[in-house]
Amino acid sequence: MSTLPWYEDVSPGRGTLPPRAWYARSDAASLSLNGEWAFRLSPAADGHDDSFAAADFDASGWDGITVPGHWVLQGKDGAYGAPAYTNVVYPFPVDPPRVPSENPTGDHLRRFDLPGDWPATGGAVLRFDGVESCARVWLNGTELGEFKGSRLAHEFAVGRLLRARDNVLAVRVHQWSSGSYLEDQDQWWLPGIFRDVTLLHRPEGAPADFFVHASYDHAGGTGGLRVDCDVPGRVTVPELGLDLATGGTATVPVEPWSAEVPRLYEGELTAGGERIALRIGFRSVYVEDGVLKANGRRVLFRGVNRHEFHPERGRSLDLATMREDVELMKRHNINAVRTSHYPPHPAFLDLCDEYGLWVVDEGDLETHGFEELAWRGNPVDDARWTPALHDRAARLVERDKNHPSVVLWSLGNECGTGAGLTAMARWIRERDPSRPVHYEGDRSCADTDVYSRMYPTHAEVDEIGRRADEGPEARRGLPLVLCEYAHAMGNGPGGLSEYQRLFETHERCQGGFVWEWIDHGLVHPEYGYGYGGDFGEELHDGNFVCDGLLFPDRTPSPGLLEYKKVIEPVRIAAGEEPGTVSVTNGHDVADLAHLAFTWSFRADGEDLAEGLLEVPALPAGRSAAVRLPEPPAHPAGAETVWTVRAVLARATAWAPAGHEIAWGQITAAAPAAAPRTPAGARPARAADRITLGPGVFDARTGEPLAFGAVAVTGLRLDVWRAPTDNDEGAPWQPDVRYGTLWRTLGLHRMRHRTDEVRVGPDSLTVRSRVAPAGRDLGLAATYRWTSDGTALGLDVDVVPEGEWTVPLPRLGVRLGLPGTLDRVAWYGGGPGEAYPDTRAAARLGRWESTVAGLQTPYVRPQENGARIDTRWLELSGGTDGVRVAGDPAFWFTARRWTTEQLDAAAHGTDLVPGDVLWLHLDHAQHGIGSQSCGPGVLPVHRLSAAPASFSFTFTFTASGGQSA
Ligand code: GAL
Repeated sequence: MSTLPWYEDVSPGRGTLPPRAWYARSDAASLSLNGEWAFRLSPAADGHDDSFAAADFDASGWDGITVPGHWVLQGKDGAYGAPAYTNVVYPFPVDPPRVPSENPTGDHLRRFDLPGDWPATGGAVLRFDGVESCARVWLNGTELGEFKGSRLAHEFAVGRLLRARDNVLAVRVHQWSSGSYLEDQDQWWLPGIFRDVTLLHRPEGAPADFFVHASYDHAGGTGGLRVDCDVPGRVTVPELGLDLATGGTATVPVEPWSAEVPRLYEGELTAGGERIALRIGFRSVYVEDGVLKANGRRVLFRGVNRHEFHPERGRSLDLATMREDVELMKRHNINAVRTSHYPPHPAFLDLCDEYGLWVVDEGDLETHGFEELAWRGNPVDDARWTPALHDRAARLVERDKNHPSVVLWSLGNECGTGAGLTAMARWIRERDPSRPVHYEGDRSCADTDVYSRMYPTHAEVDEIGRRADEGPEARRGLPLVLCEYAHAMGNGPGGLSEYQRLFETHERCQGGFVWEWIDHGLVHPEYGYGYGGDFGEELHDGNFVCDGLLFPDRTPSPGLLEYKKVIEPVRIAAGEEPGTVSVTNGHDVADLAHLAFTWSFRADGEDLAEGLLEVPALPAGRSAAVRLPEPPAHPAGAETVWTVRAVLARATAWAPAGHEIAWGQITAAAPAAAPRTPAGARPARAADRITLGPGVFDARTGEPLAFGAVAVTGLRLDVWRAPTDNDEGAPWQPDVRYGTLWRTLGLHRMRHRTDEVRVGPDSLTVRSRVAPAGRDLGLAATYRWTSDGTALGLDVDVVPEGEWTVPLPRLGVRLGLPGTLDRVAWYGGGPGEAYPDTRAAARLGRWESTVAGLQTPYVRPQENGARIDTRWLELSGGTDGVRVAGDPAFWFTARRWTTEQLDAAAHGTDLVPGDVLWLHLDHAQHGIGSQSCGPGVLPVHRLSAAPASFSFTFTFTASGGQSA
């Protein structure tokens, strides 16, 4: 292997300084080298010799590029190649450590002067926070060395080479290197210098590194502090009156750090002529009696997996975007983040310390593509790669060790098993025994301190929670952490509430991390947001890269709103005694003093009164029953509901006062009577029309043509929905891929046979059979229309015929109305979409929207936008208005394209509003589940074909809004 070029040999690099703790603030002078660099791209690693690194090289003919950045996202019209997305498979022949000759190579040049106040004495280091996939570096014509490890920091000592003016920094970056075999994370392949480049002054004798050990003893309420440093110095923490020597230990009463109360103490380390600002959080994390604890208390992770992603800049994130991520997490009750699957930009961890998030900090390591090859040649099981693995472990731990937010070290992701991982774990445990080690890929748990799983079923989580699972002895006593669960691809994930119940029931189940935080949709000139395959890739995994709780532009998806509700740290429910509400504090440590509680009372969705509710400042884990006020006067027979909300009493760093944390609704009284079916009017037949009250029907088919002045088209039973990513299911879930099963059965092309159109004395009855070609199963549907002369009633009876072995996507009617009806008001669940297993966040109320506003813009279009528990719905626009009331309550979806068009669309730009508003009034929907990667829809949320009856009452207005 010695004959291989450096970027192909397995070594981690050459010439770099040993890794050390990263810190943002010190009094050392620094110079950011971010900005415009000269750039030249070659299609191969050896396309150009290295004469460009000479100090006098003339790069005036080169293009410019922004550093930090990825070159594939910066070339005009694809001039610098294109991003490529694969999940597991390597996009090059697997022949480790060799890489293709077609190895796009970016030469980067930057000239700089030292600032006028740059200290005259001392040394300097040149720091790269992230370069994909490797770099060879020269300063002023002298080669410094080279490194691999894309999302890790690398530094060179450069003091002796610097001059006051006209320094030339040259960096050659290859897209592919031996390191690429270790970086097979499921994401875009994006080469470039994508994190900061900085020159840091270091005084003569400055410390090489320091390690802050800050623990918390919950029994005594004291913090222990020791700062180790390779050069002697002093540590001061004025707020604690501390002034101690490095290496010395102090024990003082402190407030502990936690994600909920991220108490930091400002301190300073003075050593070797440098003053280093410290932000110290005292906390201890450990596994005790089979439970993961922080500061003596069980921790419950309400987490997300976060890749670094920006729709225009890829993995090159600015501080504002990082802060936005952290604030969005905090505002959505998220308390933990797994940095999947590499250490994040170091500034992100500062934010986690400051705002309070438990962090699982993961190594830059994944070799998943070897699974396709039965793990033959897996680098983590090949001693030649161990130095590279060790380097990755060390660069993770050394850089991030002083962050109180980091509570678990994670070796990496999806690497199978091997001695290399064991070596990493051994090194980490020795270097930092204060944090437990995580790795999901080894079920024996030989190298881990927690039992980690991804995408287990609810049933299995329950079994593990009851400690009834089989398995190696070593893992029996370990706490369970779901490093990934609930796949947020497209519409979903479903089943979050049921997981949360298990986490709150079983002490051993300590929560998990939803996969994942944000859709990696890249801005695309034609498609809005592009995914795998949209950039001409030879191999790709389609929209599997769009599986986040945020849309690419960081707008929260319904999945995030659902998650926020499911993990709310305060539970508000009906109390045992009537007239009371039960409030439970589900925080890990915080009491309720930071929250204010409000109540409101609604009758038929109308707000009648509201006020403040006195709730005691319950400690974590405690419940109380709180008496509600006397219900205000309200119309007899109305449906009355209390809504109790917990909001921030005071502004925090991440949300204003009044920001909602949790809520609950308690029904005071159900509606006294079911809505009455309109009756009394007589149908009349004339030529090819039948009229009944305001309804005009086709005499042959029995289909309605108009409701008063409102044209109606295509009213029929409907069972089809544009399959969601979770309906489609992952290829490794062959048995229950509903999208395929449904299509095979033909549910997307149902035929409607009219069996009878019967005009009775006070009704019009239409019998039909709805069934797919080539099958002997179907649904008998009977529509019975009545009217009182003003309103129209529709009773639908459905009886399945034949052998139905698969659930239905949906069951209801759809009809076309004028597209001018663009305003929507309803009384029911809202304001957002909901499905049977994604309905926790829907609250009962009166809501308003536009038709456009009802649509959820999933990057790959699919079923979306259903509103649940609708009592009534009004559509208005132009001069028309239609009101629909349901018995029982129904689901509705309204869109200016058909389900077939939605199903056929690949990108949002394929959906163009037509003249017809397609209104779906559903009696039921099939659940969503998480089958795009993990388990499917729980049995209770499956929509089995079974006899069903449901009714609607339609009323119409000629001038919108108010019903006749
Ligand atoms: C996991 C993997 C993630 C991602 C996810 C599916 O197996 O760790 O990186 O691929 O599945 O989106």
